[in-house]
This record gives sequence, C-alpha cells and structure tokens, in this order.
Amino acid sequence: MCTRDAAARQLEEWSKNNQDKVGYARNSAGVAIVNPATSLTIGKHGLIPLRDWQLVERLGHFHRERIPERIVHAKGAGAFGEFICTRDLSKYTSSKVFQLSNKTPIAVRFSTVAGNMGSADTVRDPRGFAIKFYTEEGIWDLVGNNTPIFFMKDPILFPMFIHSQKRNPVTNLRDWDAFWDYLSLTPMSVHQVMILFSDRGIPDGFRHQHGFGSHTFSLINGDRKLTWCKFIYKTNQGIKNLDPATAEKLAGSDPDYAARDLYNAIAEAGEKSKSYPSWTMYVQLMTPEQAKKSKFDPFDITKVWPHGEFPLIEVGKFVLNSNPTNYFSQIEQLAFSPNNLTPGIGDSPDRLLQGRMFSYQDAHRYRLGANFQQLPVNRPPNGVANFDRDGVMCIFSQQGAPNYYPNSFGGPNADPEAATWTPPPQHFDGYENYYPEYYEEDNFSQPRVFWERVLNEGAKKSLVENLANSIKCANRSIQKRAVEVFTKVSEDLGTKLRKKLNQNDRIVHL
Ligand code: NDP
Ligand code: HEM
Repeated sequence: MCTRDAAARQLEEWSKNNQDKVGYARNSAGVAIVNPATSLTIGKHGLIPLRDWQLVERLGHFHRERIPERIVHAKGAGAFGEFICTRDLSKYTSSKVFQLSNKTPIAVRFSTVAGNMGSADTVRDPRGFAIKFYTEEGIWDLVGNNTPIFFMKDPILFPMFIHSQKRNPVTNLRDWDAFWDYLSLTPMSVHQVMILFSDRGIPDGFRHQHGFGSHTFSLINGDRKLTWCKFIYKTNQGIKNLDPATAEKLAGSDPDYAARDLYNAIAEAGEKSKSYPSWTMYVQLMTPEQAKKSKFDPFDITKVWPHGEFPLIEVGKFVLNSNPTNYFSQIEQLAFSPNNLTPGIGDSPDRLLQGRMFSYQDAHRYRLGANFQQLPVNRPPNGVANFDRDGVMCIFSQQGAPNYYPNSFGGPNADPEAATWTPPPQHFDGYENYYPEYYEEDNFSQPRVFWERVLNEGAKKSLVENLANSIKCANRSIQKRAVEVFTKVSEDLGTKLRKKLNQNDRIVHL
C-alpha cells in the first residue's frame, strides 16, 4: 500500500514532535549505549566475546518479541476514547456508567475471527467489537461482535465450530468441507450464517458497522431489582460494506485495510478537524415477567429480541479519539473478559455467556501470564485490594496488606454496599442432565423473518450469490445438506440457492 496518509507519516510526525527532546540512547537498565549498531569484536575481523552484553540483550529480547496469538480474533486493531451517558438509567441500574452525563474512558478492539495474526482484514467473517470501560467501580468488558446473534447456544460447541473454520490439521489450509459440514449439521447456526453471508458480512473497515453485546445481560438497580438487557451500538458513520470482488482485491493489495482506515480516521480527525469515529449506544429492556411469558427463549443467543416488542432506548454515545502509542503493549496485550461486570450490570442464564465467563481469563493467563490484569491497559482505575500475590511479572505490591482472609490486621473487608447491587436471589429448577433437544428449539422463524421482511430483492440476490459461491467449494453431499437447511428457513431461499448452485458446472444436480 503506497500512500502518504496519516498512518504512513507516523514516523515523520514523531520526528517533528520529538526530535529536539530525544536524549542519548540508553539500554533497558538506563545505561548509555556506546554504539547501537556495532558488535564488540576482538580485532576488526575477529570473534564476538560473550561479554558484548548489548548484543546479548538485543538478541535475547528479540527472541521473545512474539507471544501466542489469540486462539480466535487474532487479527485486529484498537483505539481509545470515551463513553458519554445521555440518559439516566438509575431506574434500572446502579452503574455509574449510566448516570446522566457521566463520562467513562474506554478502549475498543476490533477484529476478524478465524484468520491468523497476519490475515486480511477484508474477509467474510464476523467482526469482534470489544469495549473495555475503565469505570470508577472497576473494569466492565462488553466483548461483543458486529452481529446481534451467534452460531451456537452451548459453549461446548465453540472449540468444534472454530476447528471447522480454521486450518485443517493435515493440509494447514482452510477447509470448505469442514466449514459447511459443521454449519449444515448445526441448524441453530443458520440465523448467524445468513447475516454473515448478507451484504453486511464484509463491512467496509471497522467504522461503518454496528456492534452488539449479543448476549442477554442483567441490570440491577439500587433496590436490587433486576431487568434483562441487550446492549447495541450503532455506527454514526453509516453502514458501508465491501462487495466481494473489491474485498478480494483489497485482501491482496492492502490486507491491513481496516486497521489503516481506523488509524487514519482518528489521526486525521485530530489533524483536520474531521469527526472522530463514534457510535450511539442503545439498550433493549425486558422485565423478568416478560421473560417468563416470552414466546422465544430470551437467553438464547441465536435469537434477537424483536425491535417492535423491545424498542431500542438510546443511552449514550462513544467516541474513539486516540490511537495507541504502542500497538503491542496497548492493543495486543488488551485482555477482555465477559466476566468483568461492574456493580449494577450482571450476567444472565445465557449458557454461552456462562461458558465465556470461564474461557477468556483462562486464555489470558496462557497468552499473557498470571498477572495480565496488572498491565497498564488492563488495570482498573480504582485499584485492587485482594489476596492474590506473586506470579510471573508481578508488578504491584499491595503495601504490606495481609494476603489471607480472615485476618486480624485490618486487611480489606467486603464492601457493605455490595448487598445493594448484587443480583436478587435467583431460583433455578430442573434435573441435571444433557438436553440436546435444546439445540432444536425454533431455529428457523427469526431467519425466516430476516429473509422475508428485512432483506429487499437486491439484498436477497447477494445473500444467495454469496452463499452459493462459498457452498460450492464443499463436497456434493454437504452442499445438499446445506440447501436443505436453508429450505427450512424458506422454500423460496432454498429454491434460489439450489438454482444458483446448479448453475455451477462443478456439480451435476442437487
Ligand atoms: P426490524 O425491522 O425492526 O429490524 C431489522 C434489523 O435488521 C435492523 O436493525 C436492521 O439494521 C437490521 N439489518 C438489515 N439488514 C441487515 C443485514 N444484512 N444484516 C444484519 N442486520 C440487518 O425487525 P425485528 O427487530 O423484528 O427483527 C427482524 C429480523 O431482523 C430478525 O429476525 C433478525 O434476523 C434481524 N435483525 C434484528 C435485530 C434485532 O436486534 N431485533 C438486529 C439485527 C438484525 P439497521 O437498523 O441498521 O438497518
Ligand atoms: C476472543 C472464546 C463466543 C467475541 C475470544 C478468545 C477466546 C474466546 C478464548 C481469545 C481471548 C484472548 O486470547 O484474548 C469464546 C468462547 C465462546 C465465544 C469459548 C463461546 C462459548 C463469543 C461471542 C462473542 C465473542 C458470542 C461476541 C458476542 C469475542 C471477541 C474477542 C473474542 C470480540 C476478541 C477480544 C479482543 O479483541 O481481544 N473468544 N468466545 N466470542 N471473542 Fe469469543
């Protein structure tokens, strides 16, 4: 990519602002470096002695520059900004984030899902859209996507689903048989698949897409009253998508297209007084009584809450106004955990959310180490007072406070206020068992509405084309099964898809 945009001029900018301030080179112990680009040698053409500590340190650090990439969502970009609350939600939540006019600093990371760290930004894939709120009550992580729903409703399926989307362990290539085999065998994924293969499946960069917390969460007010809640963030830049041909071209000519666009949009907004990228935040609310009477399972992440019944309520806006100053320390080391919920915001019986509440912190401990929460970008602004100590890269002391509880030395105690914002006692009933029939609950009625009511003729045509262009790469029996699933959504969709696939000369007839 050969332009002189803000991203390309980063070094020039740094030079302009810093050249006069830069001191002499010093090593990581702060000691002056004699010659940054020459090894110590015994004679002009001689050997390098081990005491060339500068060389040893340079190579030693270099060997450790890479850490494991995220098992999913490895390729991404991020930025910083703030969330401003525009509607007081104290009727529903005690969270300070939702007190009128409160401003909360945030970090956002966007990502693709299946590709490795160096993969192209312009592929058809959901986009991760994760927000870290640095609240005065601790870290709240809203780890969402650009789609309101997901491929599955049971966390035990996640590793299997991801295996089918990532590289085949023999060929080390993406495998279209595995991709469509898994999806066509799990009809609960069809809603998400239809959104993914619609025009919105390849957003134009990260700025022109909506975001969704996707799960059902709970809001808890000062009287411990609970309301179920969905979080939605709509782009103020307008929806813009890439057509598949342009996306494919960009994957070759500018694989970092979305990251570049985000960096430039923020840098140039600062420079040229253009607007910073921003999103308007909404909630949908459902009382526990409504949930009990609901025709669909409100905790099933493969389903949306229809807007007609549960209207969007505008609650705030967030703006991204600052690029990272070091990608690795501030974005690669960002660690989002769906279990990071602050007072007034809680989880729900959404099974997938329950699974995610374990998964992420475990992944961070592997990827970043036991003390990942001590990294500046993950640290809560209100401090930590707990009983965990030590471990790799432990940075903070807790000022000599006891590391056990109970103790008789005045160590930190439970906050008496906590009783006012913890969720009310919840009653769960039922027999412990495996319930695979849950997977079959009403997988088609919402996708049918999407096909029949939401998509216009043009959008239907692209969905069929996009599906056919991908399904045609799988073997014939998988193609057949996939068509059968889409036919259960709608005869019309199934017929159009079959017809499109039959136009492809690789196959005889479905
Ligand atoms: P509405 O007509 O009120 O909403 C339809 C929604 O679909 C709008 O939010 C619209 O977004 C969004 N949309 C339009 N095209 C696409 C696309 N290609 N991919 C993803 N979303 C798209 O209907 P209901 O709330 O009754 O929902 C009907 C169906 O719409 C659902 O079954 C679901 O498939 C889909 N949908 C529903 C959402 C929800 O939370 N209720 C959210 C997204 C999709 P926009 O406003 O930007 O045009
Ligand atoms: C990243 C697991 C479902 C959004 C990750 C990571 C894991 C994971 C292990 C990597 C974490 C890291 O190393 O930093 C799971 C499991 C799921 C699930 C087990 C289902 C049971 C979802 C859903 C969404 C989602 C439903 C969105 C609604 C994300 C995002 C990231 C991510 C945005 C990247 C966060 C970042 O930018 O660092 N997921 N995931 N995931 N996941 Fe999930």
